[in-house]
Amino acid sequence: MNVLDAIQNRRSIRAFRPDPVPKATIEQILQISQRAPSGTNTQPWHVYVCAGAVRQAISDDVLALARAGKGAKYEDFEYYPATWNDVHRDRRRGVGWSLYSLVGVAKGDREGSARQSARNFLFFDAPVGLFVTVDRYLTRGSWADAGMYLQTIMLAAKGFGLDTCPQAAWIQYQEPVFKHLGIPADQSLVSGMSLGFADPNAIENTLISEREALENVAHYRGFD
Ligand SMILES: Cc1cc2nc3c(=O)[nH]c(=O)nc-3n(C[C@H](O)[C@H](O)[C@H](O)COP(=O)(O)O)c2cc1C
Repeated sequence: MNVLDAIQNRRSIRAFRPDPVPKATIEQILQISQRAPSGTNTQPWHVYVCAGAVRQAISDDVLALARAGKGAKYEDFEYYPATWNDVHRDRRRGVGWSLYSLVGVAKGDREGSARQSARNFLFFDAPVGLFVTVDRYLTRGSWADAGMYLQTIMLAAKGFGLDTCPQAAWIQYQEPVFKHLGIPADQSLVSGMSLGFADPNAIENTLISEREALENVAHYRGFD
Protein backbone atom coordinates (compact mmCIF):
# COMPACT_ATOMS: atom_id res chain seq x y z
CA MET A 1 0.00 0.00 0.00
CA ASN A 2 1.46 3.36 -0.93
CA VAL A 3 1.49 6.22 1.52
CA LEU A 4 -1.31 8.19 -0.16
CA ASP A 5 -3.60 5.16 -0.12
CA ALA A 6 -2.80 4.53 3.53
CA ILE A 7 -3.70 8.13 4.44
CA GLN A 8 -6.90 8.05 2.36
CA ASN A 9 -8.03 4.66 3.61
CA ARG A 10 -7.26 4.94 7.32
CA ARG A 11 -10.41 5.37 9.30
CA SER A 12 -11.28 4.87 12.92
CA ILE A 13 -12.56 1.31 13.10
CA ARG A 14 -15.00 0.53 15.88
CA ALA A 15 -15.66 -3.17 15.37
CA PHE A 16 -12.90 -5.74 15.02
CA ARG A 17 -12.78 -9.46 14.31
CA PRO A 18 -11.45 -11.55 17.20
CA ASP A 19 -8.54 -12.92 15.12
CA PRO A 20 -5.27 -12.44 17.01
CA VAL A 21 -2.52 -10.21 15.65
CA PRO A 22 0.87 -11.97 15.73
CA LYS A 23 3.28 -10.32 18.14
CA ALA A 24 5.88 -10.30 15.33
CA THR A 25 3.56 -8.12 13.22
CA ILE A 26 3.05 -5.68 16.09
CA GLU A 27 6.82 -5.53 16.52
CA GLN A 28 7.25 -4.73 12.83
CA ILE A 29 4.65 -1.95 13.04
CA LEU A 30 6.33 -0.48 16.10
CA GLN A 31 9.82 -0.89 14.63
CA ILE A 32 8.86 1.08 11.54
CA SER A 33 7.00 3.63 13.68
CA GLN A 34 10.23 4.39 15.48
CA ARG A 35 10.96 6.43 12.32
CA ALA A 36 8.28 8.95 13.39
CA PRO A 37 9.70 12.47 13.60
CA SER A 38 10.04 14.40 16.85
CA GLY A 39 11.26 17.83 17.77
CA THR A 40 15.06 17.72 18.20
CA ASN A 41 14.73 13.91 17.89
CA THR A 42 13.68 13.56 21.50
CA GLN A 43 11.40 10.59 20.65
CA PRO A 44 9.38 11.23 23.80
CA TRP A 45 6.93 8.36 23.40
CA HIS A 46 6.55 5.08 25.22
CA VAL A 47 4.10 2.48 24.00
CA TYR A 48 2.52 -0.23 26.12
CA VAL A 49 0.95 -3.08 24.20
CA CYS A 50 -1.53 -5.49 25.73
CA ALA A 51 -3.33 -8.63 24.70
CA GLY A 52 -4.82 -11.67 26.42
CA ALA A 53 -5.31 -11.56 30.19
CA VAL A 54 -3.82 -8.09 30.63
CA ARG A 55 -6.09 -6.59 28.00
CA GLN A 56 -9.04 -8.34 29.64
CA ALA A 57 -8.13 -7.10 33.14
CA ILE A 58 -7.91 -3.49 31.93
CA SER A 59 -11.22 -3.85 30.14
CA ASP A 60 -12.98 -5.41 33.16
CA ASP A 61 -11.74 -2.81 35.64
CA VAL A 62 -12.44 0.17 33.41
CA LEU A 63 -15.91 -1.07 32.51
CA ALA A 64 -16.69 -1.45 36.23
CA LEU A 65 -15.62 2.15 36.84
CA ALA A 66 -17.56 3.37 33.80
CA ARG A 67 -20.73 1.58 34.94
CA ALA A 68 -20.32 3.14 38.39
CA GLY A 69 -19.96 6.58 36.80
CA LYS A 70 -16.49 6.99 38.26
CA GLY A 71 -14.72 8.58 35.30
CA ALA A 72 -12.43 11.59 35.51
CA LYS A 73 -13.05 14.62 33.32
CA TYR A 74 -10.90 15.35 30.30
CA GLU A 75 -10.41 18.91 31.47
CA ASP A 76 -8.85 17.65 34.71
CA PHE A 77 -5.89 16.62 32.56
CA GLU A 78 -6.03 19.67 30.29
CA TYR A 79 -6.80 17.15 27.58
CA TYR A 80 -9.95 18.68 26.16
CA PRO A 81 -11.45 22.02 27.23
CA ALA A 82 -14.51 22.07 29.48
CA THR A 83 -16.27 24.18 26.85
CA TRP A 84 -15.76 24.01 23.10
CA ASN A 85 -16.26 26.85 20.69
CA ASP A 86 -19.08 26.51 18.18
CA VAL A 87 -17.15 25.10 15.27
CA HIS A 88 -15.42 22.39 17.29
CA ARG A 89 -18.60 21.57 19.17
CA ASP A 90 -20.49 21.15 15.90
CA ARG A 91 -17.87 18.88 14.40
CA ARG A 92 -17.83 16.73 17.55
CA ARG A 93 -21.59 16.44 17.55
CA GLY A 94 -21.58 15.75 13.83
CA VAL A 95 -19.40 12.67 14.04
CA GLY A 96 -21.05 11.53 17.28
CA TRP A 97 -24.54 11.69 15.82
CA SER A 98 -23.41 10.01 12.60
CA LEU A 99 -21.98 7.12 14.59
CA TYR A 100 -24.95 6.84 16.94
CA SER A 101 -27.51 6.93 14.16
CA LEU A 102 -25.61 4.16 12.36
CA VAL A 103 -25.71 1.92 15.44
CA GLY A 104 -29.34 2.81 16.18
CA VAL A 105 -28.89 5.10 19.19
CA ALA A 106 -31.41 7.93 19.07
CA LYS A 107 -30.78 11.43 20.46
CA GLY A 108 -31.56 11.40 24.17
CA ASP A 109 -31.12 7.62 24.51
CA ARG A 110 -28.69 7.73 27.42
CA GLU A 111 -28.58 3.98 27.88
CA GLY A 112 -27.81 3.41 24.22
CA SER A 113 -25.12 6.06 24.16
CA ALA A 114 -23.54 4.61 27.33
CA ARG A 115 -23.56 1.19 25.67
CA GLN A 116 -21.81 2.53 22.57
CA SER A 117 -19.36 4.52 24.67
CA ALA A 118 -18.54 1.37 26.68
CA ARG A 119 -17.46 -0.31 23.42
CA ASN A 120 -14.31 1.79 23.78
CA PHE A 121 -13.43 -0.18 26.89
CA LEU A 122 -13.84 -3.50 25.12
CA PHE A 123 -11.26 -2.21 22.66
CA PHE A 124 -14.14 -2.52 20.17
CA ASP A 125 -13.38 -6.28 20.41
CA ALA A 126 -9.88 -5.80 18.99
CA PRO A 127 -7.39 -8.36 20.33
CA VAL A 128 -4.69 -5.75 20.94
CA GLY A 129 -4.62 -2.49 22.87
CA LEU A 130 -1.87 0.11 22.73
CA PHE A 131 -1.29 2.96 25.14
CA VAL A 132 1.04 5.81 24.27
CA THR A 133 2.58 7.88 27.04
CA VAL A 134 5.15 10.66 27.41
CA ASP A 135 7.08 11.68 30.48
CA ARG A 136 4.88 13.84 32.66
CA TYR A 137 7.24 16.83 32.75
CA LEU A 138 7.12 17.21 28.97
CA THR A 139 4.99 19.90 27.35
CA ARG A 140 3.08 20.66 24.19
CA GLY A 141 5.84 20.01 21.66
CA SER A 142 6.30 16.49 22.95
CA TRP A 143 2.56 15.86 22.89
CA ALA A 144 2.60 16.93 19.24
CA ASP A 145 5.40 14.40 18.68
CA ALA A 146 3.28 11.73 20.34
CA GLY A 147 0.45 12.59 17.95
CA MET A 148 2.73 12.05 14.99
CA TYR A 149 3.82 8.76 16.50
CA LEU A 150 0.20 7.67 16.87
CA GLN A 151 -0.55 8.51 13.24
CA THR A 152 2.60 6.71 12.12
CA ILE A 153 1.43 3.56 13.93
CA MET A 154 -2.02 3.88 12.35
CA LEU A 155 -0.60 4.23 8.85
CA ALA A 156 1.94 1.45 9.34
CA ALA A 157 -0.87 -0.81 10.58
CA LYS A 158 -2.69 -0.23 7.28
CA GLY A 159 0.39 -1.53 5.49
CA PHE A 160 -0.06 -4.84 7.31
CA GLY A 161 -3.79 -5.08 6.54
CA LEU A 162 -4.66 -3.98 10.06
CA ASP A 163 -6.90 -1.22 11.35
CA THR A 164 -6.99 0.98 14.42
CA CYS A 165 -9.05 3.31 16.51
CA PRO A 166 -7.19 5.96 18.51
CA GLN A 167 -8.92 6.36 21.87
CA ALA A 168 -8.78 9.29 24.21
CA ALA A 169 -11.65 7.64 26.10
CA TRP A 170 -9.13 5.87 28.35
CA ILE A 171 -8.01 9.24 29.74
CA GLN A 172 -11.08 9.10 31.97
CA TYR A 173 -10.04 5.81 33.60
CA GLN A 174 -6.28 5.89 33.96
CA GLU A 175 -5.80 4.09 37.27
CA PRO A 176 -6.47 0.53 35.99
CA VAL A 177 -4.54 1.25 32.80
CA PHE A 178 -1.45 2.34 34.73
CA LYS A 179 -1.78 -0.51 37.22
CA HIS A 180 -2.15 -3.39 34.76
CA LEU A 181 0.49 -2.09 32.37
CA GLY A 182 3.00 -1.09 35.03
CA ILE A 183 3.21 2.46 33.66
CA PRO A 184 5.38 4.60 35.96
CA ALA A 185 3.60 7.46 37.71
CA ASP A 186 5.93 10.00 36.08
CA GLN A 187 4.38 9.33 32.68
CA SER A 188 1.20 10.84 31.19
CA LEU A 189 -1.23 8.92 29.05
CA VAL A 190 -1.62 10.53 25.63
CA SER A 191 -3.99 8.06 23.99
CA GLY A 192 -5.06 4.47 23.86
CA MET A 193 -5.59 2.64 20.60
CA SER A 194 -7.36 -0.50 19.48
CA LEU A 195 -5.56 -2.60 16.87
CA GLY A 196 -6.79 -5.57 14.91
CA PHE A 197 -8.55 -6.79 11.80
CA ALA A 198 -11.65 -4.76 10.93
CA ASP A 199 -15.00 -6.53 10.91
CA PRO A 200 -16.12 -5.85 7.32
CA ASN A 201 -19.77 -6.52 8.17
CA ALA A 202 -20.10 -4.10 11.09
CA ILE A 203 -22.35 -1.13 10.39
CA GLU A 204 -20.19 1.23 12.48
CA ASN A 205 -17.27 0.58 10.16
CA THR A 206 -19.17 2.15 7.28
CA LEU A 207 -18.83 5.58 8.93
CA ILE A 208 -16.86 8.04 6.85
CA SER A 209 -16.34 11.14 8.95
CA GLU A 210 -16.70 14.54 7.32
CA ARG A 211 -13.91 17.01 6.72
CA GLU A 212 -13.98 20.78 6.52
CA ALA A 213 -13.59 22.26 3.05
CA LEU A 214 -9.91 22.85 2.42
CA GLU A 215 -10.42 26.56 1.67
CA ASN A 216 -11.56 27.04 5.27
CA VAL A 217 -8.37 25.69 6.77
CA ALA A 218 -5.58 26.32 4.24
CA HIS A 219 -4.41 29.91 4.23
CA TYR A 220 -2.08 30.78 1.37
CA ARG A 221 0.04 33.89 1.43
CA GLY A 222 2.35 35.26 -1.22
CA PHE A 223 0.94 33.23 -4.15
CA ASP A 224 -0.34 35.14 -7.20
C1 LIG B 1 -6.27 11.51 19.81
C2 LIG B 1 -7.56 10.88 19.35
C3 LIG B 1 -8.43 10.35 20.27
C4 LIG B 1 -9.61 9.72 19.86
N1 LIG B 1 -10.41 9.14 20.79
C5 LIG B 1 -11.47 8.39 20.38
C6 LIG B 1 -12.21 7.64 21.33
O1 LIG B 1 -11.95 7.65 22.53
N2 LIG B 1 -13.23 6.87 20.88
C7 LIG B 1 -13.56 6.81 19.54
O2 LIG B 1 -14.49 6.08 19.20
N3 LIG B 1 -12.86 7.52 18.62
C8 LIG B 1 -11.82 8.29 19.01
N4 LIG B 1 -11.07 8.98 18.09
C9 LIG B 1 -11.42 8.89 16.68
C10 LIG B 1 -12.01 10.19 16.14
O3 LIG B 1 -13.36 10.27 16.49
C11 LIG B 1 -11.81 10.17 14.61
O4 LIG B 1 -10.44 10.22 14.34
C12 LIG B 1 -12.51 11.32 13.90
O5 LIG B 1 -13.89 11.27 14.09
C13 LIG B 1 -12.19 11.28 12.41
O6 LIG B 1 -12.60 10.03 11.89
P1 LIG B 1 -11.60 9.03 11.19
O7 LIG B 1 -10.53 8.67 12.16
O8 LIG B 1 -12.44 7.82 10.84
O9 LIG B 1 -11.04 9.69 9.98
C14 LIG B 1 -9.92 9.66 18.48
C15 LIG B 1 -9.05 10.22 17.56
C16 LIG B 1 -7.88 10.81 17.99
C17 LIG B 1 -6.94 11.37 16.95
